[in-house]
Amino acid sequence: MKDFITLSDWSTQSLQELLDLAVRLKAEYKAGGNAPILQHKTLAMIFQKPSLRTRVSFEMGMKHLGGSAMMLGPDEIGLGKRESIADVARVLSGYVQGIMARVFAHAHVEELARWANVPVINGLSDSQHPCQAMGDMLTIYEHYGALKGLKIAYIGDGNNVAASLLLAAAHLGAHFTIATPSGYGLSEESLSQAEPFAAISGCRIQTYTDPRSAVDGADVIYTDTWVSMGQEAETEARLKVMWPYQVNADLLRHAATGAIVMHCLPAHRGQEITDDVADGSQSAIFPQAENRMHIQKAILAKLMS
Ligand code: CP
Ligand code: NVA
Repeated sequence: MKDFITLSDWSTQSLQELLDLAVRLKAEYKAGGNAPILQHKTLAMIFQKPSLRTRVSFEMGMKHLGGSAMMLGPDEIGLGKRESIADVARVLSGYVQGIMARVFAHAHVEELARWANVPVINGLSDSQHPCQAMGDMLTIYEHYGALKGLKIAYIGDGNNVAASLLLAAAHLGAHFTIATPSGYGLSEESLSQAEPFAAISGCRIQTYTDPRSAVDGADVIYTDTWVSMGQEAETEARLKVMWPYQVNADLLRHAATGAIVMHCLPAHRGQEITDDVADGSQSAIFPQAENRMHIQKAILAKLMS
């Protein structure tokens, strides 16, 4: 694949290779530093929404691999506003060796990829967050030494992070349960995209409205914000229905002993996750954040070297 837009475009074998490469690059980095395999290469980073982890981990990832990264914020290039996405893609392709974009409409990152003749990486769209999901698989793999047969329970809003996590689990054979209020579940499209991969890997997908049923015996409990970037006008309506989906000590008791708790961050502490759980002994949220950098190096290496 030229691009990394959604995990449904990639084969299970390529995603497994990506994970293996991330493990190798992380070990190499921790042992003293990465080889400069992206020397003289630059990644343009287009952001239509704010970011801490994605921005800094991609920038550091490029640096560690001998290349550089350039930040293009929402007011700088006006993607699709000051000029068309197709023109931005073709112009950037003459200057840089890769483009990472965080956008609102998923179609916009697809359009960038269609017109760019350099690799395009989806750094989050309204419907997918593939880099996050693969970083999360790295974190789960490091903790359990395997992915197949584990149970991942996602609690809260069936958003972009949940959709990509489902695809990653479906590819790699972890079981996936999700509990959301009705009306906030994963789209039919998300579920049907995952099914063919799940059928091959043995991943069992179950959807619930009751959080305890989803969490029952889970090895991983995962949550994310109830109000994603771009949904701010829906805040009041969302908060009204989401409180029973808070990941707290009471819910955690229904998971497997020693289950880990994950959150892609930023967290709204006291809403979707309580402080005691986010900062407790079962929390994996900071190793999880660090692993964004290690998986991104693998994505960059695979697409740009
Ligand atoms: N998890 C994540 O993508 O964080 P940022 O929005 O800070 O990049
Ligand atoms: N679902 C969140 C993820 C942030 C990393 C959002 O889209 O805002």
